[in-house]
Amino acid sequence: IAAAGAVYYLFGATGDLARRKLFPALFNLYKEGKLAEDFAVVGLARRPRTNEQFRADVYESIGEFSRHKVEDAEKWDKFAEHFVYMSLDINNVDGFRELNRLTEELDAKFNIPGNRLFYLALAPELFGPVSFNLRDGGLLESTGWNRLVIEKPFGYNLESARKLNEQLSQVFKEEEIYRIDHYLGKEMVQNIEVIRFANAFFEPLWNNKHIANVQITLSETVGVEERGGYYDKSGALRDMAQNHMLQMLAMIAMEPPSRLHPEDIRDEKVKALRSLRPFSNSDEVAQHVVRGQYAEGSLKGKPLRGYRQEDSVSPESATETYFAARVFVDNFRWAGVPFYIRTGKRLPVKTTEVVIEFKNVPDNVLFARRHDLSPNLLVIRVNPIEGIYIKINAKKPGADNVVQPVSMEFCQSCQIGLNTPEAYERLIYDAARGESTYFTRWDEVAQAWQFVDRIAEAWKEDSSKLHHYAAGSWGPARTDELLAEDGFHWWPVN
Ligand code: BG6
Repeated sequence: IAAAGAVYYLFGATGDLARRKLFPALFNLYKEGKLAEDFAVVGLARRPRTNEQFRADVYESIGEFSRHKVEDAEKWDKFAEHFVYMSLDINNVDGFRELNRLTEELDAKFNIPGNRLFYLALAPELFGPVSFNLRDGGLLESTGWNRLVIEKPFGYNLESARKLNEQLSQVFKEEEIYRIDHYLGKEMVQNIEVIRFANAFFEPLWNNKHIANVQITLSETVGVEERGGYYDKSGALRDMAQNHMLQMLAMIAMEPPSRLHPEDIRDEKVKALRSLRPFSNSDEVAQHVVRGQYAEGSLKGKPLRGYRQEDSVSPESATETYFAARVFVDNFRWAGVPFYIRTGKRLPVKTTEVVIEFKNVPDNVLFARRHDLSPNLLVIRVNPIEGIYIKINAKKPGADNVVQPVSMEFCQSCQIGLNTPEAYERLIYDAARGESTYFTRWDEVAQAWQFVDRIAEAWKEDSSKLHHYAAGSWGPARTDELLAEDGFHWWPVN
């Protein structure tokens, strides 16, 4: 079903996100009938550009990054005429007034009922000023709805996030704000709920009586690339853990919502985040958290430089490119179950995986005592391969009483292709429909910052614990010890 007609304002239209993700997402939505003809996209950035140039940028981006391709010139022109560009100084309200006039023309031309979606692919310090000027420039006075979609990072810590939120809430209501965490747009992250709550195999076992531990891995092979300026001030804890990792953890740990309503689901996620056991001092952080930074190394025979040698990174930088932790969710369901989470750049493979390790059958004379039984596993593969597999024990054929682990696999991406549909496609469509389940609410963001801030503060006090790891390796050895201390090990990711 097509989303209601709207004007989409892309702030940061000449940036990387627009080129790699947003233009292709809009095109794919259009191709699939989720955007009808009653829409317009206004590209906004400081640099001057004509509509033709802008459309050429969009065309190029689609050629390179989109799963649907442009069929012919006529169809392309029909799509491209919805795209216009306006150069805008975001600190000057006059430009916003002009944007308002342009919007009126677009509303009339494409028969758009006054709905406005402002997508801010900008640095977070600009979210406040842009919101004020949207209001002061009259852009929020239309008859339709207004929605603000913003990219991460939402602040740098709880305090800055709170300030930012105060600014935004002078202009927008909470339900008009759509905070993107693109991991929530991934098919398999959304699938966590279905796997949990729609399967008699798993739902009754989803607790500390049957689950031994949970392992979440978000590994990347890339280094910081051209983002040294941003990343060196952020690091893995803020860049990946505060948002993507804790969001995934919350989806795994949350209680079943009473209804499949966005607010009910988000209420449950907040409760799970609130139950995270906070680290109360730097000793606890040292005991449960690993902080790493890649040094020189190599991947598939290709030599790689160390993080401190990367562009726009300080040669003495103590920023972590790797983060791992053992965390506990202190509630009835999860008491005593460790959640091991790890993320890093320059690791050997690009993958996002969740492993649920079940407790073994009782130590009985039948099998467990006679064989070294492997625990049952449920593995949710999020990215780039999407799928699920379970590991169970079965008899080795042809042998007496020999038990071996076997896997049963559902490979979603093998059947419908990698990453279909893309996270951004899903999220833009959701925002345009007013469906906010897979966007983060303010209290979730605040709760996640509160947890992360304690770690960051402990690191500030004690900078000695930065482990260097060779680029292309699996990160600091300390991460293995975290599990070994509890009698576990990381299950290999594929
Ligand atoms: C972003 C981080 O949010 O997620 C990047 O800022 C990271 O540092 C990226 O590379 C990973 O996303 P994905 O979808 O490629 O796993």
